[in-house]
Amino acid sequence: MIKRNIVTSEDGSKTLRLEDFDESYHSMFGALSESRHIYIGCGFNYLMELLPPQNKISILEVGLGTGLNCLLTALDVKGLKGIEVDYTTVEKYPVTKEEALALDHPSLFENNREEAAGLSMEIHSSPWGIKTNIMPHFSLLKVEDDLIRFIDKEINPNVQKYQFDLIYFDAFAPDIQPELWSADVFRKIFEVTKPGGILVTYSSKGIVKRALREAGFIVSRLKGPKGKRHVLRAVKELL
Ligand SMILES: C[S@@+](CC[C@H](N)C(=O)[O-])C[C@H]1O[C@@H](n2cnc3c(N)ncnc32)[C@H](O)[C@@H]1O
Repeated sequence: MIKRNIVTSEDGSKTLRLEDFDESYHSMFGALSESRHIYIGCGFNYLMELLPPQNKISILEVGLGTGLNCLLTALDVKGLKGIEVDYTTVEKYPVTKEEALALDHPSLFENNREEAAGLSMEIHSSPWGIKTNIMPHFSLLKVEDDLIRFIDKEINPNVQKYQFDLIYFDAFAPDIQPELWSADVFRKIFEVTKPGGILVTYSSKGIVKRALREAGFIVSRLKGPKGKRHVLRAVKELL
């Protein structure tokens, strides 16, 4: 179990912080603003513009954590017609239901707080290891595992059945978990990414860019949210 506590970021949204590592689950300039900008703006919305309106898309999130990226994605999907989402997430240190309640993310959605509360509850109480429909057109599979094991087809041959359109790569920082940001891990992620699929992440460090390129992705730097100059979007070219 890792020791963490709840903190409030600059935009009023709460997140978790690991005091021992001086690391938070989101930017302290704004957890909600960061998630919206990077994963929804540069990832989900960008992909929606490229795809035909009737579509089924498959998302992988590395690190479900507080569930904020999943909640934002589900709320967006609710407002879209004809989109079906399969959301898979791999998480090594699940957040407890008590922590999820204390984070109180539904209060961030003034206009649809009840809907957000229902979805947040589904996200955090749905069973691990079982694909569950948390709302119409949105299935969630939470895998409690280490990314390094999950993504390795020698250890987990099941991973080969996936072909993701979109990857939210939201592990702890490369300084803290260098093993997760390696070319080897990105190569394995590349293998389960559809041609034309994209990966978005908050770190734009040189080692991350190089590792993504080494794995085969075409990498671009995009404007970051408050407090972060750049973020990355990596694309697997169409064949
Ligand atoms: C920066 S936090 C982001 C969490 C989440 N996306 C959110 O919005 O709250 C990193 C997440 O990666 C998870 N994690 C750390 N190491 C992992 C590993 N080896 N495999 C899978 N998940 C891991 C952590 O437990 C944490 O939930």
